[in-house]
Amino acid sequence: MGSPTVGTIGLCPERTATVSTASEPRFWHELPHAPTVGTVLGHRDALPDGQATLSTVEPAPSTPTAPPFRVLLLRSGPEVKAYVNRCAHFGVPLAAKQEQLIFQPHVSITCNVHYARYRWRDGVCDYGECVGEALLAIPVVVDAQGRICIAPGNPDASAP
Ligand code: FES
Repeated sequence: MGSPTVGTIGLCPERTATVSTASEPRFWHELPHAPTVGTVLGHRDALPDGQATLSTVEPAPSTPTAPPFRVLLLRSGPEVKAYVNRCAHFGVPLAAKQEQLIFQPHVSITCNVHYARYRWRDGVCDYGECVGEALLAIPVVVDAQGRICIAPGNPDASAP
């Protein structure tokens, strides 16, 4: 089993004391310091099948003091899904460290704060504090070298 790409994880930079539904981002690229289309999020060969993996994108050279952008990579066979590591309940990471990440391979991933459970296939919460809301999906493609790259598009993770 290969070692997944795992970065250092801290508190979510967009965490706020008051959660306002009106200001909640609908898409990954609306978050502060979101990486650009084409950014490499990881390598498929580093992700075991059925593994949910924390990854981070370091800030661009133009914004060196920005926090890293935190991502979840979920592999099912040749397919890789990417979500922002940001719970729809309070906007904090589902887990701060790889060993704290709760998931059922190919089925679900669960926030380790209040245990909201999200479907693997589309990131929609089906149990817990934010049923019907969703993780922010990041469109990705895997290139010929196995790199997982951000693709253009605005996937609506709330669609079934
Ligand atoms: S912060 Fe994730 S379930 Fe509450």
